Amino acid sequence: MSLFRKKDLSAMLAQAEDSGKGLKRTLGAGNLIALGVGAIIGAGLFVRTAAAAGQAAGPAVTLSFIVAAVGCAFAGLCYAEFAAMIPISGSAYAYSYVTMGETVAWIIGWALIMEYALGAATVSIAWSEYLNKLLGGGIPYEWSHSPFESITDSAGVLHHGIMNAPSLVILLLLTLLLIKGTQESAIVNAIIVFVKVAIVIIFIIIGWQFIRPENHTPYLIPANQPPVLDASGKVIADYSGAFKHGWGGVLGGAAIVFFAFIGFDAVSTAAQEAKNPKRDMPIGILGSLVVCTILYILFGHVLTGVAPWTDFVDPLKGREASVAYAISTYMTGYGWLATAVTVAILAGFSSVILVMLMGQSRVFYSMANDGLLPKVFSDLHPKYRTPYKSNWILFIFVGAFAAFVPGSVAGDLTSFGTLFAFVLVSAGIWILRVKSPEMARPFKTPLVPLVPILGAVICLAMIFALDAQTLKVAFAWMALGLVVYFMYSRKHSKLNEGA
Ligand code: ALA
Repeated sequence: MSLFRKKDLSAMLAQAEDSGKGLKRTLGAGNLIALGVGAIIGAGLFVRTAAAAGQAAGPAVTLSFIVAAVGCAFAGLCYAEFAAMIPISGSAYAYSYVTMGETVAWIIGWALIMEYALGAATVSIAWSEYLNKLLGGGIPYEWSHSPFESITDSAGVLHHGIMNAPSLVILLLLTLLLIKGTQESAIVNAIIVFVKVAIVIIFIIIGWQFIRPENHTPYLIPANQPPVLDASGKVIADYSGAFKHGWGGVLGGAAIVFFAFIGFDAVSTAAQEAKNPKRDMPIGILGSLVVCTILYILFGHVLTGVAPWTDFVDPLKGREASVAYAISTYMTGYGWLATAVTVAILAGFSSVILVMLMGQSRVFYSMANDGLLPKVFSDLHPKYRTPYKSNWILFIFVGAFAAFVPGSVAGDLTSFGTLFAFVLVSAGIWILRVKSPEMARPFKTPLVPLVPILGAVICLAMIFALDAQTLKVAFAWMALGLVVYFMYSRKHSKLNEGA
C-alpha cells in the first residue's frame, strides 16, 4: 500500500456534482466577500489584538497584522487555485486527498481539528469573557476560568479557576442548533456581519479622538522592558524572549493575531454555490482578506492609542474583554458604546463558533465517509439529516478544552493547526504544478513557485514564533495523529476496497 495513494479526481467531481444537485449557484463576488468577513471577524480581533499588544508587539500590533495578512494572502492565493480546480466542499482535506495522497490528507485533516475544534473552544472562552463583562463581572472567577488560571484580586485574595461554565453553555446551545440543522438564514448572517463591521468602524471613528500619542511611544516594545508583576509580585509577562520585544515581537504578535484571519478559507467551502467560481472565488477569498486587514490595522492603532498596551496584560485591568475595558475606562461619555460593542461581539462570536463547529463536523463527515474515521462520525439523524452523533462527540471534546484550558493556549494551538494546513496547501500547489501540469486550472496562483514558497516560509516563521509550550503540545498532537492513522485509519480506508 503506497503512502501516497490518492482518490480519483474525476470520480470525486462526479460525486460532488451528484450530491450538489440541490445546491444552486447563487453567490456572486460580493456575497462571497460577506461570507468571508462573517467567518473572519471574531475573537481574534476583539480579544487577541490586545493579547498580542500586551505580550509581544505593543502598539506595533498593527505591523503584526500586516505580517499575518501577507502570509494569509500568499496561502490564500494557493487556496484559490485549489478551490477553483476542485470545487467541492471539504476544504484542504479534500484537496489534498486527490492531489497529494491519503497520508498528507490525513495530516491536514488532523491539523484542521486544531483549527476548527480548538478555534470553537477559543471563541467560546472569549464569549464567556464578554458575557461576564456584560453582567458587570457577576460570574465568579472560579466558574469562568480554567484550573490553570489564577488571579490575586485587589484585596490580595488569590482565586483559582475551576471550570469555564459559560463557554460550555454557549457550546451546548449552538450544538443543539446544529443538530436541529436550522440553517442560519442568509438574512440573519447578513445582519450579524453588518453589525460586526459597523461596530468595528464606529469604534475606530469614535476612538480615534481618544488616541493619546504617548501610548504609541515607543512603537515597538524595547528590549529592556521590565516584566509585569501581579498584586502578589508574581511575574505575569516577561519581555526578554526573542519574540517578545522589538521586531521579533512583531513576528510573535503576528503568530497571536493570525487567529483573527482564520476563516477566510471558509469561502472556499462555498465553491459549489458560486455563480462564477473561476473569477469569484479568488475575489471572495482575497477581497475578504483585504477588507479585514484594513479594518484590523485601524482597529489595532486605535485600541493601543486609547489604552496603554501594558493594561492588556493586567488581569485587574484590560486582559479580558479588552475592547469594552478600553471604552469604559478611557472613552468618557461612551458607556453606551461599551455595552453596544459587547452585545454585538457576543452575537458575532456565536456565528463564528457555529461556522467552526459546522466546519469541523463536515471535515469529520468526509473523513468518516472515506473510512479514515469510525462511521459514527458520518451517521445522520433520522429526522434532521445532520451528523448528530459527531456533533455530540465534538461538543464533549470542544467543551473539555473550553472548560479546562486557558483561552490563550487554545488560541495558540488553533493558530498552529491552521498555519500548518496553510504550509501544506502552499506546498501542494507547487508539487502539483510540477507533477500534474496538465490538470485544468481555472484560477492559477501567480508567480509559482515564488508565491507558494513565500506563503509556506511566512507561515512557518509564525509557527516557530509561537510559544515553546504550544509547539510541544502541537507536535505531540500531530504525532498522536500519525499513530491513529497507522493503527486504524489506513486499515479502514475505503481506498483498500478499490486496491
Ligand atoms: N477569525 C475568527 C475569529 O477571530 C476565528 O474569531
